[in-house]
Amino acid sequence: MSYAYLFKYIIIGDTGVGKSCLLLQFTDKRFQPVHDLTIAMLKMYSCETFQAGQEAFRSITRSYYRGAAGALLVYDITRRDTFNHLTTWLEDARQHSNSNMVIMLIGNKSDLESRREVKKEEGEAFAREHGLIFMETSAKTAANVEEAFINTAKEIYEKIQEGVFDINNEANGIKIGPQHSPTSSNLPSGGQYPSSSQGGGCC
Ligand code: GTP
Ligand code: MG
Repeated sequence: MSYAYLFKYIIIGDTGVGKSCLLLQFTDKRFQPVHDLTIAMLKMYSCETFQAGQEAFRSITRSYYRGAAGALLVYDITRRDTFNHLTTWLEDARQHSNSNMVIMLIGNKSDLESRREVKKEEGEAFAREHGLIFMETSAKTAANVEEAFINTAKEIYEKIQEGVFDINNEANGIKIGPQHSPTSSNLPSGGQYPSSSQGGGCC
């Protein structure tokens, strides 16, 4: 594979918001139930609950935050509770990630307009308030899915250009590709997600 940079992303948010489907839609351009998806990180986050005291599990999720250049923070526009939990997710992400990590807020399931519980304006306002980029997506119709990953990559790329990311430290979730040249103005061609080699799931 030829690339200028590889960016590692994490996808977080309540269970059922569509994290696995978004990833599948981006990587495979298809939509299907995702019970057999074996990407370890996603399995990890599937198991996230908001119960206190799960120290062992939480320490694992923290290591995923630390190695990520970008995070997609996903809620489901048809379930207000998933929107209400964003603050908790954001606190966790901010606390445990590289401070330069780019966070994209995603209101998923935009195809289910008739069941909408969270207005687009509310997502926009939350994003503005917390300094996030925002998009509504549908993992079903693919609307804005590619854009969400690409826009996050663009933002990371801009931060690299500004010199705020230490790109020589792979712990920041950025890997320089063989095609990289310091004068290149090519935009990154896509995102990277953790591989399945990072250990087993927890459920
Ligand atoms: P966990 O792995 O449990 O944390 O959930 P998840 O966030 O990975 O959700 P998943 O991708 O498994 O999707 C949950 C359900 O929502 C599945 O039944 C999907 O088919 C459905 N779904 C996901 N995205 C969309 C979408 O954009 N539109 C519609 N209509 N359904 C969606
Ligand atoms: Mg999942």
